Amino acid sequence: MSDDAGARETTEPLPILLLNGPNLNTLGTRQPEVYGSDTLADVVDLAERTAAELGFGLRAAQTNHEGQMIDWIHESVRQISGIVINPAGWTHTSVALADALVIPGAPIMEVHISNVAAREPFRHHSYVSPHASGVIAGYGIRGYEFAIRRLVDIIG
Ligand code: DQA
Repeated sequence: MSDDAGARETTEPLPILLLNGPNLNTLGTRQPEVYGSDTLADVVDLAERTAAELGFGLRAAQTNHEGQMIDWIHESVRQISGIVINPAGWTHTSVALADALVIPGAPIMEVHISNVAAREPFRHHSYVSPHASGVIAGYGIRGYEFAIRRLVDIIG
């Protein structure tokens, strides 16, 4: 029997990419009655802990600039296992972001802290949802944890 026989798979999985869109840098002070008092740092901490528990690293980024977000998505090709994204206001406006999310060919989970379906009608439509494996909305920041768990189920 060679030394390699029965060798265990030691390759690290590619990290999960967590993306947060515009205004989410102000979590904690922005409309706390809608978004709660947790900050973006709390979101990233929760996401990192959840990913680590499941054996994944996490890359997290937030921007208020749509082109920056699209560039990050392009740069993620072959670098990540999947994407968890809260597209924030771009959810309801951006064909360009939706087009970009198709490019990596990786599974996507869409997260909203608030229950967008129970809010203004303009928040009821998402350009991202048709490209997502699932949407989690209305669970506060715990939605990020649920999204990572579901993403890892999908990655297999
Ligand atoms: C949001 C909901 C969006 O409608 C809004 O524009 C946001 C945050 C959420 O997390 O509930 O910025 O994505």
